[in-house]
Amino acid sequence: MSASSAAPQAAPRSLVMRRPDDWHVHLRDGPLLNAVVAATARAFGRAIVMPNLSPPITTAAMAEAYRQRILAALPPGSRFQPLMTAYLTDTIDPAELERGHRAGIFTAVKLYPANATTNSAHGVTDIAKLTPVFDTLERIGMPLLLHGEVTDAEIDIFDREAVFIERHLQPLLERYPRMKVVLEHITTSEAVAFVESQAGGDSPRVCATITPHHLQLNRNAMFSGGLWPDFYCLPVIKRERHRLALRRAAVSGNPCFFLGTDSAPHRRSAKEAACGCAGIFNAPHALESYAQVFEQEGALHRLEAFASLFGPGFYGLPPHEQTVELRREPVPVPRRLELADGNGGVEVLVPFHAGQTLPWRLVG
Ligand code: NCD
Ligand code: ZN
Repeated sequence: MSASSAAPQAAPRSLVMRRPDDWHVHLRDGPLLNAVVAATARAFGRAIVMPNLSPPITTAAMAEAYRQRILAALPPGSRFQPLMTAYLTDTIDPAELERGHRAGIFTAVKLYPANATTNSAHGVTDIAKLTPVFDTLERIGMPLLLHGEVTDAEIDIFDREAVFIERHLQPLLERYPRMKVVLEHITTSEAVAFVESQAGGDSPRVCATITPHHLQLNRNAMFSGGLWPDFYCLPVIKRERHRLALRRAAVSGNPCFFLGTDSAPHRRSAKEAACGCAGIFNAPHALESYAQVFEQEGALHRLEAFASLFGPGFYGLPPHEQTVELRREPVPVPRRLELADGNGGVEVLVPFHAGQTLPWRLVG
């Protein structure tokens, strides 16, 4: 993708920044977890781990058991900290969310509208019915993370985020003026404008995560010369003007926009199928991908805040003291990765940027 503004005058060779966090990732479970977790732990100090397993994570005990499986799958010596989330259903018990939050097990809750995306069949069928949950979240200051798309068959898939904002998010924020909300993996100029319109007050309460793939690609990527399942994700990648709006937001220095990769690995058989799964596995080179975007936008000096400061600010956590280094060295991204699954086998996964060379290398 072409740069939308000039490169900085003196191109730096190295960039040292506080260790970043990933505020939206799918680590999966079992062999796939064993195969993918190291990629996230290599770059990121913490990550918000999405709860859309099968069955979904709905209790503190399930989240704690999952957290232990993640820790057990980490490479020796890793200090990566998974931050766990609860999956909202129509029947979830708000007292369980509060207990889990107070016990330090649940960092946040995730709302999937029913059938909006992968493993969301148990999601929420009617947001209006969750009043006791929202009352609790607002009272205890527990963030609500939103998959912000309506699921109505009559709404065009490219419009589902904008319609969600108008129909559900705006009224929800009016009803709960102190609830903390993250609109996850935003994909449209409407989402950017909406989040910007909510700014005000001492600390942001409505924020958004932005993925590397929505910054790098527009929807042509899915259809250039054929059908490319590796660029299919949800919310689906939109047209160019939306990509440009996301890039402007990411590099703006507005603390309401921060890093969330939405790395979502699926097996080849699930991606290359008559009805293929949504999700892009970007964890192996996510930070390098963001660095490329920030440099193209002439905003490398703002990468650290987006990647390492604004997320902790929203979640009320300290930024990391440790640093990481990006060096200007070409990184050829393999066409496919064969990752050990912890059981003597391998998982074959296609990483984002497969076959390309990225200009920044994460050292170590
Ligand atoms: C995610 C997954 O595979 O779990 N897929 C995706 O396309 N992003 C679910 C999600 O975040 O929507
Ligand atoms: Zn996701």
